[in-house]
Amino acid sequence: MKSIAQQHFERIFDVFWSVLILLGVTLGAVYIPLRLVRNIDQSIFSYTIATSVTVLFVLDIGYNLYVALRRRHNTHRRDRQTALEQYARRRLVIDVLAALPLPTLLGGYSIFIIIRLVKMIRVRDIFTEWQRTALRYANVLRLLFLAYWLFVVAHWVACGWIYLHGAPEGIAFREYYIKALYWAVTTLATVGYGDITPKNDIEMMYAIFVMLLGMVTYGYVVGNIANLLANLDANRKRYYQQSEQISAFMNSRKIPHTLQRRISEYYAYYWERQVGQDESLILNHLPPRLRAEVMMFLRRDILSAAGIFGNADDDTLRDLAKELRPILFAPGDIICRLGEPGNSMYFINNGTLEVLDAEQRTIALLEEGDLFGEIALLLDQPRTATVRARDYCDVYSLEKQAFNSVLAHHPLFHQHIRTMAQERQNIESHDSLEQ
Ligand code: CMP
Repeated sequence: MKSIAQQHFERIFDVFWSVLILLGVTLGAVYIPLRLVRNIDQSIFSYTIATSVTVLFVLDIGYNLYVALRRRHNTHRRDRQTALEQYARRRLVIDVLAALPLPTLLGGYSIFIIIRLVKMIRVRDIFTEWQRTALRYANVLRLLFLAYWLFVVAHWVACGWIYLHGAPEGIAFREYYIKALYWAVTTLATVGYGDITPKNDIEMMYAIFVMLLGMVTYGYVVGNIANLLANLDANRKRYYQQSEQISAFMNSRKIPHTLQRRISEYYAYYWERQVGQDESLILNHLPPRLRAEVMMFLRRDILSAAGIFGNADDDTLRDLAKELRPILFAPGDIICRLGEPGNSMYFINNGTLEVLDAEQRTIALLEEGDLFGEIALLLDQPRTATVRARDYCDVYSLEKQAFNSVLAHHPLFHQHIRTMAQERQNIESHDSLEQ
């Protein structure tokens, strides 16, 4: 069994190693095509780059084997061999090919050196892994992945152009490269200003190929980005869809304007407070224990604001958090009506409510952190007052059955709520005696 510190260290090291490999692979992806089109002598610089990348890729094989072995210890018997087998079957050949010291074996840079670029497949694995482990940033990582590929493809296309076109004498390579990159981007984006044009058949064929490649890549990237942007704010999208539906409904049914305005205000508030986020839609996919933890996190504030749970143990709070249902009331809504039977009590998350007596006079105001509706449940009697929302109110309701089970398991809560109910009842009988 590994300690938490050890697991934490392993996670950090995994990220560090992935970044290092990403840098190594990118260096190769940029340098190898450049080196192939630019005829320069073997310099110390290029030798150092080639050697460092080779060393890094060799170490990566070792690291991948270690990770596969590490998984062996963490997983079930059935999965043990598969981690190693999977690596041997899927990636080992690619990793070995990429790690071969080709410049030394081939005695310089020849076209075969591009074999090394098979390691690019690791970039996809790294981004997929990051997306899986950092769900919060999954969309941003997808965008980065697309941008990365766009950059690499544009660079390769530019190098291909230089290879075919040949670098003219008298122009600095940097200047010529920028021109080629400009051609690559305009052709890939199928903009093609026509200021740099293919001069012979081969160049023309190459331009056709790049334009086709551009069409596919461009379509893929634009589609992905549009999808990503829509997903980034799925909630807003849902809100707009919903408000369009409501507006169509209100108009077709000729709902009066004042009522329409109230409905629109309700939806605007609903959206603004993010109450519209359907928690259950997301949470229902989680296992019960994890779901309870999330509920507890989301509702901890309201439960601790209610004060009476100050001494409650985590299990009780978790049980309670699970049972709370969020409801939004609009100004003027009546939540409890005097004399009617009651089936739930409420915790106020936000907003102000007024407690009214039989003559509709306000006898108390309830605010964030207060609870109400407990008397009917506790004493099994009709509602002792009417409770009305003054403004928009987010409240959590607790059903009778859940309320009883919390009382049974949490005597302190039982005692406190009983005292509170008695005090409130006394105030009311005192009020009625005074009249
Ligand atoms: P219940 O009788 O179930 O429904 C109406 C609720 O209003 C009641 O429970 C109390 O929670 C609340 N309530 C009644 N009287 C008062 C009061 N004087 N001050 C605050 N809250 C009250």
